[in-house]
Amino acid sequence: MAVLVTGALGHIGMWVATKLLEEGEEVIAFDRDMPDFDRLATDELKAHAAKISREAGDVTDAGTVDALFEKYAGRIDGVIHIASIAGVPAFTQRPRHFLELNIMGTVNVLEAARTHDVKKFTFISSGAVYGTREGPMKESDCPTPSDLYGASKLAGEELVLKYGDTYGMQTVCTRVYFVYGPGRRPEGMFPIYRWAFCPLDGVTGLSNDSGADQLLDFTHVFDTAQGIVKAYRALPTESRIYNITSGVAVRLGDVVDFVADHLGTKPGVTLGPGKAVPRGAPLDTTRAKAELGFDPAFADIRDGIRQYHAWLQGSDYGKT
Ligand SMILES: NC(=O)c1ccc[n+]([C@@H]2O[C@H](COP(=O)([O-])OP(=O)(O)OC[C@H]3O[C@@H](n4cnc5c(N)ncnc54)[C@H](O)[C@@H]3O)[C@@H](O)[C@H]2O)c1
Repeated sequence: MAVLVTGALGHIGMWVATKLLEEGEEVIAFDRDMPDFDRLATDELKAHAAKISREAGDVTDAGTVDALFEKYAGRIDGVIHIASIAGVPAFTQRPRHFLELNIMGTVNVLEAARTHDVKKFTFISSGAVYGTREGPMKESDCPTPSDLYGASKLAGEELVLKYGDTYGMQTVCTRVYFVYGPGRRPEGMFPIYRWAFCPLDGVTGLSNDSGADQLLDFTHVFDTAQGIVKAYRALPTESRIYNITSGVAVRLGDVVDFVADHLGTKPGVTLGPGKAVPRGAPLDTTRAKAELGFDPAFADIRDGIRQYHAWLQGSDYGKT
């Protein structure tokens, strides 16, 4: 039996797949970009290539998703659905396109799971469902998304939970947030990440007129992957929604200083006062720790900075 991971060549998907493979699972890796596996996959994922069934396709194409489940009928233990678009700017430009991906893409995978009698389903949601609220934010808080992206993730959650109720599937939603770390070079990330981490990759001189006072719940991708895989393994879970983050709020200006301290240099990035994005922090991770045994190894971002820097120094990933 195998675990089907959608979005398996993305930042989070690669480490979820790698963790499953390290734990002895077989993985069916589905991603629109799968033909580009050799360039996009990390060495850590490639090391398990023999146990990965690679499948290329688009989750918004219901026929393709159904054919995937048909091909592996009887061999899929469960699904971790990650394929999606993260972030807000793209949504504002092309709302219909991205709502189709985040909502109907999720429906297509749910439908194929239902009709092929695959009962376990883990959905990757976002702290964006809490909108602009200040933390700590609990899963029991009423969601208040402040943009289309957050609304699309909340819609996905509701659909996943209602499929569970209606068809007897074991479904769980993991709310992840501001994921950083190996598998992406800082320059290829959203501005917030570039300001925080670019000096780790030798890029300095960046500036922005705000952001230093932004509180963020940055989460190392290894912790994100750990929490997602734990939620999958715990199915059926006691609760059905879990915050999977570091659980710690840190000022973006302090992250810039931590990076400089680590490198032994002056800060390579200049940020003005105030916030830069309409998000709060932290997410409360008490439930995930108590019910899933979630145990983030990089809750202190200084540990995550050290690990990420070591990985960047030892890897050519993303340079070509
Ligand atoms: N990265 C974060 O900080 C963050 C924060 C909150 C929530 N999330 C959620 O986590 C998920 C993944 O985030 P990520 O950072 O790994 O993103 P990513 O962009 O690195 O990965 C997404 C993957 O999905 C694939 N994909 C996109 N559209 C597809 C389609 N139509 N069909 C098949 N595959 C498709 C892409 O090729 C890519 O490999 C998203 O659901 C996002 O909403 C991420």
